[in-house]
Amino acid sequence: MPITQAEIAALQQRAAEAARNSYSPYSRFRVGAAVLLQDGAIVAGANVENSSYRLTCCAEQAAIAAAVTLYGPQIRIRAVAIVNLNGAACAPCGACRQTILEFSTPETAVFYPSATGDTVSTTLAALLPDAFRLPPE
Ligand code: THU
Repeated sequence: MPITQAEIAALQQRAAEAARNSYSPYSRFRVGAAVLLQDGAIVAGANVENSSYRLTCCAEQAAIAAAVTLYGPQIRIRAVAIVNLNGAACAPCGACRQTILEFSTPETAVFYPSATGDTVSTTLAALLPDAFRLPPE
């Protein structure tokens, strides 16, 4: 079932609310992400930085960790919205694409702001072609 404009707006709203809680004293880049699960639940997360820079947790990873914590390991993601409060383009980084893949379906939709401020609407398959996966045991 295609994602409606109302669902996209709700996801972006939740992502923006999460971004206000971003812990980003080093980059000052305040990111929020929200995932829409198959059952309609929405879970959001913010980026959480660390003075040991490589320990930073992206907003998408925070949202997905929260979704698994709340709803369990079987979650499936219908859509992801990523926003930032800096008015910048904000495609998901490579690591986040791989993290989304873990809980996605082939149709999982991804929405993020382009450099012009428009919302890019794409799929995870387009963002991460020929992705690495381990076969399930
Ligand atoms: N960041 C995210 O939260 N998601 C991404 O997909 C890319 C980058 C965060 C990490 C860091 O806190 C800040 O943006 C600058 O890289």
